[in-house]
Amino acid sequence: MREFLIAGNWKMNGGNEANAELVSGIIAGVPDGDGFRLLVCPPFPYLAAVAAQLAGSKVALGAQSVSEHSAGAFTGETAPSMLRDVGCEYVIVGHSERRALFGESSEQVAEKFKAAQAAGLTPILCVGETLEEREAGATEKVIDEQLDAVLSAVGAAAFATGVIAYEPVWAIGTGMTASPEQAQDVHCHIRERLAQHDAELAADVQILYGGSMKGENAPGLLSMPDIDGGLIGGASLKASDFLAIARAAAEI
Ligand code: PGA
Repeated sequence: MREFLIAGNWKMNGGNEANAELVSGIIAGVPDGDGFRLLVCPPFPYLAAVAAQLAGSKVALGAQSVSEHSAGAFTGETAPSMLRDVGCEYVIVGHSERRALFGESSEQVAEKFKAAQAAGLTPILCVGETLEEREAGATEKVIDEQLDAVLSAVGAAAFATGVIAYEPVWAIGTGMTASPEQAQDVHCHIRERLAQHDAELAADVQILYGGSMKGENAPGLLSMPDIDGGLIGGASLKASDFLAIARAAAEI
């Protein structure tokens, strides 16, 4: 049985004071019950402080990106082992902003996925199409290309300790959410693609939805059979908004 993962991607937002308030609000409001897990992904400089604040809570820590290299002359980069050192369990790889703004290719994303896993992190692989690609009927082709790059680098078995996030680019930060049916179609496609390699493993992989998820639309999205949680940007920056999504997961 898959559990829900409700992950907050803070992006480049926050500061000491705001983070402390956000984290204490989240910790205080974690819904009762099981069948779900909460995760926050702050910017790099705050990971250690947030880790200290999360200690003993039910909320996990992740980072938003990682280098594919393990050490050396890579100015400005952060190695997977460093993220483990400061208490991260998860790391987001291949977010559409990394792909579009920082030129990360699917092959590089695959290397990051591999390096993260080798260091004991659980990578959250983001895939998703642009509006133009959706309108051209290329959604599945784009997703397949992004997914296959990782499958050929690490093999399907690696997804036993990996998470996938379907994030339609047109829904990120726009307030335009995919309908539960639109998201379900793609989630189902992703699971079927993995099942071509290993049906048992595909049935267990967590596939999150991301793109303007909030308390109001979370129940509909999370009720779909192949949607196992959310990767949440805007609504992860306020404890009450994030917790509304967590409650939706706890109640399903
Ligand atoms: P959003 O961002 O919830 O603000 O749309 C989601 C994401 O980019 O992970």
